[in-house]
Amino acid sequence: MIEDYKNFLKEILIDRVELQERIAELGAEISRDYAGKELLMVSILRGGVFFTVDLMKSVDIPHKVEFMAISSYGAGVRESTGDVRITFDLQTNIRGKHVLLVEDIIDSGHTLSSVIERLSAQHPASLEVCTLLDKASRREVEVPIKYCGFDIEDKFVFGYGLDIDDYFRGLPFIGVVDLEKYVPEE
Ligand code: IMP
Ligand code: MG
Repeated sequence: MIEDYKNFLKEILIDRVELQERIAELGAEISRDYAGKELLMVSILRGGVFFTVDLMKSVDIPHKVEFMAISSYGAGVRESTGDVRITFDLQTNIRGKHVLLVEDIIDSGHTLSSVIERLSAQHPASLEVCTLLDKASRREVEVPIKYCGFDIEDKFVFGYGLDIDDYFRGLPFIGVVDLEKYVPEE
């Protein structure tokens, strides 16, 4: 069992209220931009789901949702590489749809850029990215971001979809891990 997160929570970076207020703003912006268009949100499992659900509640135009799961190989848990594999794919054809990719965080950019490459080949009418968090200083490959909740510094964060060794995704806030206090299980 993992220990209580309070043992290694350095600070709450974004609290529940700030998160929900920003998501409401993003939802309003997306509703305006996609009015009259066939909007399909593509949520990236598992981290992106929490954000996706709240975002959907604040988008007030008709839209659909699909899910994709991705795993990356070739490096430790905290580093992704270009070696990205789809482990759960879309269930419908996206040709002609206005696709909005919804992700929890963009770090090196490898995960999203490989998803974008793959989905572009299926000829959507448009393909844009909405990320809750952007750690731009860590970028290794360019990712075009249309909607971003918060720009953050290079800190390891958890909660609201983001995990530490697959735990704590359900927390309603984004917290910073104190890496001096957190000891991963072997
Ligand atoms: P990228 O391919 O390096 O952009 O990695 C993106 C993925 O890494 C995200 O979808 C997260 O699953 C994970 N990730 C990156 N930074 C963090 C973090 O600070 N906390 C938790 N997960 C993270
Ligand atoms: Mg993760």
